[in-house]
Amino acid sequence: MSHIEHWKRQLRAARIARPAHEQTQRGGGWDARRSSWFNRFAGQNDRSHTYRFFEPYVRGQVLEVGPGPGAYTRLMVARAERVVAVEPSPFMVQCLRANLRGAANLEIVESTIEDYSPRLETYDFALAANVVRGIERIDEVLCGVVEHAAILAIVTWAYDTLPEWLQGVRAQFAQSARGPDMPNNADLLGVLQELGLPHQVHRVDAPYHVFSRLEDAVLWVEGYCSLDPAWREQLAQIVTPCVIEQGGGFLLPSGRETLVIIVHREGNA
Ligand SMILES: C[S@@+](CC[C@H](N)C(=O)[O-])C[C@H]1O[C@@H](n2cnc3c(N)ncnc32)[C@H](O)[C@@H]1O
Repeated sequence: MSHIEHWKRQLRAARIARPAHEQTQRGGGWDARRSSWFNRFAGQNDRSHTYRFFEPYVRGQVLEVGPGPGAYTRLMVARAERVVAVEPSPFMVQCLRANLRGAANLEIVESTIEDYSPRLETYDFALAANVVRGIERIDEVLCGVVEHAAILAIVTWAYDTLPEWLQGVRAQFAQSARGPDMPNNADLLGVLQELGLPHQVHRVDAPYHVFSRLEDAVLWVEGYCSLDPAWREQLAQIVTPCVIEQGGGFLLPSGRETLVIIVHREGNA
C-alpha cells in the first residue's frame, strides 16, 4: 500500500472512532475544553527548540496552517510583514485573537486549510506545526501549500517509546485514553517522498514536557488524555512517580520524537 493511502486509512479510522458529534466538526474536535487546555499549556510556552530551525525563513508574506492559540504566530508576527493564520476551531480563534491582540499584521481566517485552498495567495514561507497528523487529504494539502509557498516548515511529533505515565493512564482508564493509531513520523516522511517534495529533516532534542509546578504535570496529562477531573487523584498517583524534579522545574518524559521538516519548493533542500 502507498504511504499516502496508508495515511488516509489511519485518519479515516481515527475519524470513525470519534463520537458522532465530533466526526463532522472541522479541524478534528478542538472544542472549548480542549482548546482552553491547549491554550493554558501550549499557548504561551517556549518554542525556541523547534523555532530556531525555521526562524531564518520567516519573512515577507507568511501562511500559518492551524496556529491554535498562537505559540509560533507570536514569534512570526515580529519578523514577517503579514501572517495569514488559517484556523478552523472557533475556540482556538478566540484564544488566538486574545493572545495576539494588537498584532496589526496578523490576519486570522476561520477555516480549514482544505476549504481555504482556493484562496491561497503567494507566500515567502508557510508553517504547519503540530497539525498535519490530523489532515486526511494530506497529499492535496501539502502539494497545494508548497505550490504557493517558497518554503514550508512542518513541525511534527510521534511517540518513539510510549512513556510510562501514558501506559499507566491507558491501563487504568482504557476506554477514555486509547484511540486508533495515528500516522507517525515515518509515515509523513514516506508521504513527502512519494509526493516528490524535496526536504531536510531536523531531529529536535525535546525529551521532556516542562512544568513549573508538579500539579501542572497532572493537569496537563488530564487535558491531553481528555480525562474526567473526577479521576484527578487516581491520575496523580500514576503521573507523580514519573515526574523528575530538576532546577526548580518538573519534567515529564515525553517519549516523543519531534521533527522539523523543511520543504523547499525549488528542490534545493
Ligand atoms: C495541536 S494544535 C497546534 C497549534 C499550533 N500550531 C502549535 O503548534 O502550538 C492543532 C491546531 O490545528 C488546527 N487544525 C486541525 N485541522 C486543521 C485543518 N484541516 N486546517 C487548519 N488547521 C487545522 C486545530 O484546530 C488546532 O488549532
